[in-house]
This record gives sequence, C-alpha cells and structure tokens, in this order.
Amino acid sequence: MIERLDALEVEAARTMDVARDALALEEARVRWLGRKSELTQILRGLKDLSPAERSTVGARANQLRESLERRYDEIRARLESEGPGNGPSPGRDLTLPGRALPRGHEHLISQVLDEVQTIFHGLGFTLAEGPEVEDDRHNFDALNMPPGHPARAATDTFYLRSNILLRPHTSSVQIRTMESRKPPVRIICPGRVYRNEAVDATHHFEFHQVEGLYVDENVAMSDLKGTLDTFLKAFFGRSTEIRFSPSFFPFVEPGAQVEIRCFFCGGKGCGVCGPLSGGWLEVLGAGMVHPNVFRAVGYDPERWTGFAFGAGIERLTMLRHGVPDLRLFYESDVRFLHQF
Ligand code: PHE
Repeated sequence: MIERLDALEVEAARTMDVARDALALEEARVRWLGRKSELTQILRGLKDLSPAERSTVGARANQLRESLERRYDEIRARLESEGPGNGPSPGRDLTLPGRALPRGHEHLISQVLDEVQTIFHGLGFTLAEGPEVEDDRHNFDALNMPPGHPARAATDTFYLRSNILLRPHTSSVQIRTMESRKPPVRIICPGRVYRNEAVDATHHFEFHQVEGLYVDENVAMSDLKGTLDTFLKAFFGRSTEIRFSPSFFPFVEPGAQVEIRCFFCGGKGCGVCGPLSGGWLEVLGAGMVHPNVFRAVGYDPERWTGFAFGAGIERLTMLRHGVPDLRLFYESDVRFLHQF
C-alpha cells in the first residue's frame, strides 16, 4: 500500500506540473485529489485496515494529500500571475472591452491622388498610366524639347543609359496615349516622377505629379481655364481665387502658370507664399498643346487642338493641409501620418 502511495505521488505531481492552463490543472486536481480519486478511496478505506497498518498508511496518505494540495495551490498561483486568460473562470472579466488591433490607413499622398482622380473623373477624364523608366523620345523629343534643352541634362534628369531615363514628368504618358489612340482624348496621368534635385523642405528627387490632356476639335484656352477653375475650387474650396499668367513650356503654346491666392495670409505675403509673390501660390503649369507635339504623334494640327496641364501632388497636398516640409511624406513617421 505504501508503495502504491509512492507511485501515486510521482504520477500526480507530474500531471500537475505539466498543466499549461487552469483547465488542465483542474482536471489533474479532480483526477488525483477529487472524491473519486484513488487517494480518496484509500483514505476512506483506512477504517477497514488493522490498527498497525492504519497508522502507517494513514500517515503516509495524509501527508501525500497535503503535499499534492500545496503543489496544486502553487501551480494555480503561478498560472494566474502569468496571464488573465489562464486564471480560473472567476478571474476573467468578460465585460472588459476588447483590445483594438492597431490598423493602418492610406498614405496622405495616396488619398490626395485618389481625390484628384475622382474630381477629374467627374469632368470626363479617364486614367492613363505609363512606365517610370522612359526613353528620351517619349520624354523629350516628341514633347518639342530639342537636343540640348537644359531639362535633358544629367544634372536635371537621372539617366540609366544614354537614352533611357527615369521620367521627370508624366507628360510622356500623354505621348504614349496619343500614339496609341485617335482623338478625342481626355486623360489624366498621375504617377511618380524623378528629378536630380537636392532634397530640402520643398524639393525631392522623387515625387508625384498629375498631368492632364484634352484633345478634340475646337478645344480653346477657355476650356482649359474652365477645367482648372473647376478642379482647383473642388480641391481647395469654392472661394479659391485663381489667376493665369504667361509662362513657357516647350510642349505648349501659349503656356501659362496657374496660381491661387494664398489662403494662409489672404494675399498679403507670408512665409508660405513668400514676400515677393504678391500673395499668390503657383500650383500648376498648363497651356495649349504645341502643333509640333501633334505632328510627333501623327495628329493633324490643322484639325485637332488641345490643352495640357501638370501639377505636383506633394505641392497641392502641402498647401491644402499646411504641411511645411515635403520630407515628412517619405519618413513614414506615424505621428505625422496619423493626422490625416
Ligand atoms: N510637364 C510640366 C512639368 O513637369 C508640367 C506641364 C504639363 C506644363 C503640361 C504645361 C503643360 O513641369
């Protein structure tokens, strides 16, 4: 009998020790200490034993019960301290609110790209995309930028080979689209562009643009003005004041730069628009498509006219949200990103 109790001790201790949670521990307790357990049967049968046996077996059996109960208490305390889920059910508070998983969201630049696309979609523009690695024909030649044009220099553009480069604007997508489609064409080309720039608060070697192109019969400068006016008011607000002034881009004639009245200072001149700007912020380049561009893609410039425009997404975003430094967009600092 004493031997049986010794064996019970070893087995019971082992099953309790390997219990990994409250349920397993409770099972072990019922099995080794419960009312139907072998130990309880032995304790109950003591009265039938001879007086001599009763005292030795009784002492051993009681000692075993005590040591198993102590062990049970210790393991239970340890499991409880390890985690709330491991405690016996009275320790669980089912009314506690769940723990929320941290969730990301769209980057601000993606949100703005989406919004710009939605506005132009409403004006009948469809989406066109093209490669970020371009050749100089689509990027320069067909856009009426002759050999030797300063924007072609390696100081401005990243070259992979002598005539293969990372596109510095998405105007190349306009060329690709016109090459593959007959007019009328009404597209916007959003995308990533690259320029050989030193990085500072307002310049980066990698940023995003959206360009637009509309070609049809009898497209006039007034169509361009109406389209951009609608876009800028939808993006910056209904009361936005807009101004066009003459500018030069090789692929348009006439060319214009489009400005909005600085909404930080109301046009008095401030740190955002600069003291010399007279309170205007440049937001877009635009113009009427140059006949040489139409010739390069095989469109008859006597029949077709069109307008084109281009804007930097980061710049639009900085102005609308008052972001002072373009580098914030690329640093992936969630304290910044969470605000939008
Ligand atoms: N491609 C010009 C740029 O990257 C923007 C532009 C597009 C200007 C179309 C005029 C017309 O700066």
